[in-house]
Amino acid sequence: MSVTAPREYQHFIKGAWRKSESGKTLDVLNPATGELLTRVPAGDARDVDAAVAAAREAFTTWGQTSPAERQGILLEIANRIQKRARDYAELETLNVGKPIRETTNIDIPLAIDHYRYFAGVLRNLQGTTQTVDPTMLHLTLREPLGVVGHILPWNFPLLLAAWKLAPSLASGNTVVMKPAEQTPVTLLELANDLRDLLPPGVLNVVTGYGPDVGAPLASHPGVRKLSFTGETTTGRLILQYASENIVPATMELGGKSPHIIFPDADVERAIEGVMVGVFLNQGEVCSAGSRLFVHDAIYDRFMGKLVAKVKGLKIGNPMKEDTQLGAIVSREQMEKVLSYIEIGKKEGAALLCGGTRPTDPELAKGFFVTPAVFGDVNNKMRIAQEEIFGPVVSVIRWNDYDAMIAEANDIAYGLGAGLWTETLPLAIKTAKALQAGTVWINTYNALAAGAPFGGYKKSGFGRECAFDTLLHYTQIKSVFVSTAEKPMGLY
Ligand code: NAI
Ligand code: MG
Repeated sequence: MSVTAPREYQHFIKGAWRKSESGKTLDVLNPATGELLTRVPAGDARDVDAAVAAAREAFTTWGQTSPAERQGILLEIANRIQKRARDYAELETLNVGKPIRETTNIDIPLAIDHYRYFAGVLRNLQGTTQTVDPTMLHLTLREPLGVVGHILPWNFPLLLAAWKLAPSLASGNTVVMKPAEQTPVTLLELANDLRDLLPPGVLNVVTGYGPDVGAPLASHPGVRKLSFTGETTTGRLILQYASENIVPATMELGGKSPHIIFPDADVERAIEGVMVGVFLNQGEVCSAGSRLFVHDAIYDRFMGKLVAKVKGLKIGNPMKEDTQLGAIVSREQMEKVLSYIEIGKKEGAALLCGGTRPTDPELAKGFFVTPAVFGDVNNKMRIAQEEIFGPVVSVIRWNDYDAMIAEANDIAYGLGAGLWTETLPLAIKTAKALQAGTVWINTYNALAAGAPFGGYKKSGFGRECAFDTLLHYTQIKSVFVSTAEKPMGLY
């Protein structure tokens, strides 16, 4: 291991470290060992006030920068993360508990790519013109909104920060970010690495608990837009705050995504897809394919192979290169996952493997849960309807296409969906029938800068990662220009 977190961080406000007004701190743990990783301020409304004030002041100049200038800065952000890519990967793994092979190959490179993507497309953020009549020209200007407030979850800290920070900066906004209390490390490292690059106040990071920092940020009258990723119930609260100040909000909320196996699926690839769908990041993924619909005709064969594969997953120290399943982010989340295992058993589902804490004494202090497969699940059960956010897949047997599609859509959420078939017309028909913001055909959990990501139904609204996102971070000004040389003659 080559990198460790400092003993303590401060808030990052106006380009400098700043102690919390409260003087309180909160402990940040390494979930794989249960040990203290670092401490961060447990901020409150006073820190949020200072950060918003700094961001407002910075907006007066940052909002006037040229697209070319912002492009250069975003490219440099990407380069700086790239330069320390291994440090970022290790710190993310130490803080979140996810395998180093994931942070190295997914979180960090994708984060870098989002800065590059938005550096590119920001040059296409243009208005329109029209000739209204021979003496009237109309044009639109796309203007930044001002201070944007970001409230982040703990599952992909640096990547989801990029999803919000890159388009916000690209379109000329300044930012106050609140990382999840469990996982603030990589964002604070990034703020530090950008100290001499971004003018003071353009990026501010305030750490602390949701009700103490997130709520004052979301209800702050100086904030012109909110972007939130997290639990649906928290999203509802944030929207209430947003309604007080009439500000737009992007909501990326929970999911319980259907993943459908047709009888003609390529079984080897589909099984790998199922594992990517629900064991990547220990299943702590909003788009996890956690409701698996397996066709009756191949159910027994498919399940036999799947369970054998799941039992062979390498669970353990996430810093080891060959670890496939790391630790759950926190004790609280681990207990939540374990409680759903009990709920599933009580509901009458068959626990085919996993769902326990591992017996390996080396893992005893960490927050690990062995990967679990529930068979004989009914779509009405809580383990089929509620977001568990852990390495648990609920498998439903199906044989009638229309009934299966109805069940797949019989859920409050609509974030992702996946399907496996070798029949193209069936794949497209099914993709159209599924109520989800993203559908994966013969793959799962693929993400790319440029591919809009977001939810249907209670999974939220607004789209991240794509050109559309820039539109959400700007407002339109309509400008009418008369070229008349004489009065109209009306008065
Ligand atoms: P959460 O929604 O409570 O936390 C997400 C962020 O919101 C954190 O930064 C938190 O501090 C903040 N927050 C919490 N309460 C707030 C409030 N009243 N006002 C403003 N901000 C507030 O999610 P939590 O409790 O960490 O996780 C619980 C469950 O949420 C998970 O088990 C999972 O099911 C779901 N979740 C979904 C995510 C997704 O990507 N869709 C991400 C994280 C959690
Ligand atoms: Mg919560």
